[in-house]
Amino acid sequence: IRLLSVAAEMFPFVKTGGLGDVVGSLPHALASYGVEVTTLLPGYPAVMAALPARAQVMHHPDLLGHKATLWSAHVAGLDLLVLDVPALFDRPGNPYLGPEGQDWPDNGIRFAVLSRMAADIAQGHTPHPRPDLVQAHDWQAGLVAAYLHHDHARAEQDSPPPAPRVPVVQTIHNLAFQGRFPAGCLAEFGLPPAAFAVEGCECYGAISFLKAGLYHADRITTVSPSYAQEIQTPEGGMGLDGLLRHRSDRLEGILNGISTETWNPASDPAVHFPYMVGDTVGRAPNKRDLQAEFGLWADPDAFVVGVVSRLTAQKGIDLLADVTPRVLEGNTQLIVVGEGDREIERRLAALQRQFPGRFACHLGYSESLGHRLPSAVDALLIPSRFEPCGLTQLGALRYGAVPVAARVGGLADTIVNANPAAIAQGAATGFLFTPVDGETLLATVVRARQLYRRNRRMWRQLQLTGAAYDVSWNDKAAHYVRLFAEMLGMDAGGRA
Ligand code: ADP
Ligand code: GLC
Repeated sequence: IRLLSVAAEMFPFVKTGGLGDVVGSLPHALASYGVEVTTLLPGYPAVMAALPARAQVMHHPDLLGHKATLWSAHVAGLDLLVLDVPALFDRPGNPYLGPEGQDWPDNGIRFAVLSRMAADIAQGHTPHPRPDLVQAHDWQAGLVAAYLHHDHARAEQDSPPPAPRVPVVQTIHNLAFQGRFPAGCLAEFGLPPAAFAVEGCECYGAISFLKAGLYHADRITTVSPSYAQEIQTPEGGMGLDGLLRHRSDRLEGILNGISTETWNPASDPAVHFPYMVGDTVGRAPNKRDLQAEFGLWADPDAFVVGVVSRLTAQKGIDLLADVTPRVLEGNTQLIVVGEGDREIERRLAALQRQFPGRFACHLGYSESLGHRLPSAVDALLIPSRFEPCGLTQLGALRYGAVPVAARVGGLADTIVNANPAAIAQGAATGFLFTPVDGETLLATVVRARQLYRRNRRMWRQLQLTGAAYDVSWNDKAAHYVRLFAEMLGMDAGGRA
């Protein structure tokens, strides 16, 4: 099976969050099932710089009004197609935001062009071999299915009739970002007037890239079974629950995995004192080392809680800031690594001044701290208001940091709450809480701390059970392969 994956970010070239991790690691996992993935990415400076040897696939003098070059490259074991449109992508920093932290005003055309190129590739309009199917990730690739639909409808007037349309799976990593733009942009995006309809890209009076994808895609996936349910409810549907309920027979949740090669505490260069997965004693020096690195009191008995997160309302870090003074009681230390919302950053910086030796933060992005924290802290706190899947809890489980998380989305699907029955059965791997508010967060940290203090043997059991949980891509990739085979009318062995 040849898959064209279309995304706005991909680790190790460009990453702002879990989307980049998934887009960068899933191809390796699919390869072992015979799925050949080529990923179409925008040619941001960081991506262009990562292509030492590249071959020009084609030059496009007028891709929705822009001069574009499509490059192909094989880097870090990944097959890439890079869409080089200097006027749109040759900008420093974050792929979506300008220097002031605001969305680039032309994000609509930037990602329309990406999707338009993907649709051309999918239809064999470029020298690149035509893929069997397309996976469109998030809103940035939402128009792919719409372009394919409209192109195909137009071609059906021709004789001979066109080849069957390439099937598309639209994957939702986060329904909160929908890519909404004014209706007046329709022509600029190269969409016909008929596209602006409830049966199309129209959404509450605007153009919505994600809605277009959800409407036109053959299948829809999201990144956990619980989130697949939540987004069909008015509370979790962000205005699209009606459409998602309507398409529920085409929608499923497939959990994310992480690379167990990258996430190996015995060989991870970010882990200062390497240890084997499941070695709860071997990780102890990392805690001491991290306390020193962050200027926290060198106390092996302190209960050290970590956070690695974008600092946004989604992640509930404001709730944590509300109760931090009380979280720190009972010899608890807290380390936050993250960047995002300026107001949350300001509050965290103030807490660091107020509680030296007990609270510390790193306000910025650090891939290395993102790995070092779970190798060192006793618990990793994830108080998300919603979480499509979440990846940090997977790293935490693997590295022996016990997750303390909101019972939402993928967190609920990947963590087994330490209630008495689960503890007795040896099934528990962490602590889940609901409702997601400051008081419940606080109470749950206290609950975790009490187990840590009063029953270290049971705490170790949580760590061991967590370390044995399969965070890899194996079963999840197999699930994608079954879906792809179904979409192509093949049996699971890949025969037509
Ligand atoms: P989301 O994609 O919503 O941000 P995920 O948990 O799926 O949430 O993925 C976030 C990824 O980004 C994880 O790999 C996490 O370790 C990483 N990450 C987030 N913020 C930072 C940061 N400030 N420094 C380093 N890594 C971070
Ligand atoms: C999004 C979600 C996160 C998920 C990631 C990768 O950023 O917020 O929960 O893990 O995508 O799918």
